[in-house]
Amino acid sequence: MTMQKRTKISTVLGSDKKDYQATVMGWVRTFRNNQFIALNDGSTLKTLQVVVDRETMDEALLKRIATGAAISATGTVVESQGRGQTVELVADSVEVFGDSDPDKYPLQPKKHSLEFLREIAHLRFRTNTFGAVFRLRHAIAYSIHKFFNDRGYFYIHSPIITGSDAEGAGEMFQVTTMNLEQVEKEAEGDGVNYKKDFFGKKTHLTVSGQLQAELAALSLSQVYTFGPTFRAENSNTSRHLAEFWMIEPEVAFADIDDNMDLAEDMLKYVIKYCMDNFKEDIEFLQQRLENEEKQKPAAERSPMPLMEKLEFCVVQEFERLTYTEAIQILKNSKPNKKGKFQFPIEGFGADLQSEHERYLVEKHFKKPVILTGYPKEIKAFYMRMNDDDKTVAAMDILFPGIGEMVGGSQREERLDKLTKRMEEMDIPLDEMQWFLDTRRFGSCPHAGFGLGFERLVMFITGMSNIRDVIPFPRYPGSAEF
Ligand code: 4AD
Ligand code: MG
Repeated sequence: MTMQKRTKISTVLGSDKKDYQATVMGWVRTFRNNQFIALNDGSTLKTLQVVVDRETMDEALLKRIATGAAISATGTVVESQGRGQTVELVADSVEVFGDSDPDKYPLQPKKHSLEFLREIAHLRFRTNTFGAVFRLRHAIAYSIHKFFNDRGYFYIHSPIITGSDAEGAGEMFQVTTMNLEQVEKEAEGDGVNYKKDFFGKKTHLTVSGQLQAELAALSLSQVYTFGPTFRAENSNTSRHLAEFWMIEPEVAFADIDDNMDLAEDMLKYVIKYCMDNFKEDIEFLQQRLENEEKQKPAAERSPMPLMEKLEFCVVQEFERLTYTEAIQILKNSKPNKKGKFQFPIEGFGADLQSEHERYLVEKHFKKPVILTGYPKEIKAFYMRMNDDDKTVAAMDILFPGIGEMVGGSQREERLDKLTKRMEEMDIPLDEMQWFLDTRRFGSCPHAGFGLGFERLVMFITGMSNIRDVIPFPRYPGSAEF
């Protein structure tokens, strides 16, 4: 028998076919009554019931069928007598690939907290919750590629090691092969001599692939990146990671309105794809969320079941308004007047904190919101200056329960305005000549955005902590596994 003869549990359970021979392989979830194995192979949320004959089966083998063990079972797929499944496999033979000592196996057949599972992230794939989350994470990634491919976008790989700070925010991880102890000793006087470093200059892990995507867009017209990005911001929150994945489309001959349309279409497409193709996992996560929220006060629970919330986002038009209009709403809002905001809103210029974003999407509009026209002072150097000389053609998309899902803008394509802004913001012009060349030779209106992949996974799975939607989260003080 070759391993390829295995039939996936999703295939067995996904068809009405019965009375045929099959071999299934997977991990034992439970073994009841020395007779009924609940077997899961990750292909689906569901387990297949494998029935063994405890009278005829070798006793030593019977003992080895334990929670966590990897086994193969060959037998006949028959109509199930028991409740909860249509078919089951009556085993003629069972082989154990890998034993699992049930007294030591950390995953017991009971509920474990997400915090505990985070500590054993190497094993949490084997739970229903994380199986569902990671199947959906795949579905989201796949449908993003499909969305862009079907619309004629080209996938560009932007570098992971870079010498530039795309966001100008300075929250970068340095990359070096220098011996830090040695550097410290020699660093008297002139400081560190980066000419001696691997790349002959100071380098970092990328915070965004945007600048490189712009270069590609000004030739291929429609491109996108989808890769890991790194930020050394010391934010120990449920929405920030030090290593996260970002999707960054960049489009030539497009303005801020095209940019908003693209982002809204894409988000709706991906959500719909998951609802159509991974309903079972979403419904499971919906139930999980409902159970979790039973412990919360009613006011803090999700206003809609997960599936309904996703459907709602697909059919509703996102609310579009300017930053200035949003400030007006916030200024006159109850929490602002009653001093409930930690950062009171006085007027134009205020940077929106997550409490403000949440008020707008969760209390005021009760749906996704796209804000445009932010003050130039609180946005990056590359955003296109509006005619008022005060605001830029930025757009942020805010989602209920998540906050900022997307950040993007129309880009400043005018060389003089761009260099002026870079000078004002102390961006080193000499190191950015390659970027400025696009504005020197055949510049054109263009726009793009960055979608935080994990934030979208959070929204679709209903998971409330970003650390639970990436296999091995990296955050301040933690780089386990
Ligand atoms: O708003 P940001 O910083 O935008 C950029 O990096 C632009 N260069 C994008 C572009 O226009 N091409 O980041 C984009 C998105 C945010 O809206 C958020 O969803 C996500 O990336 N994000 C994070 N996700 C997880 N952990 C973090 N520390 C994140 N920082 C940003
Ligand atoms: Mg942003």
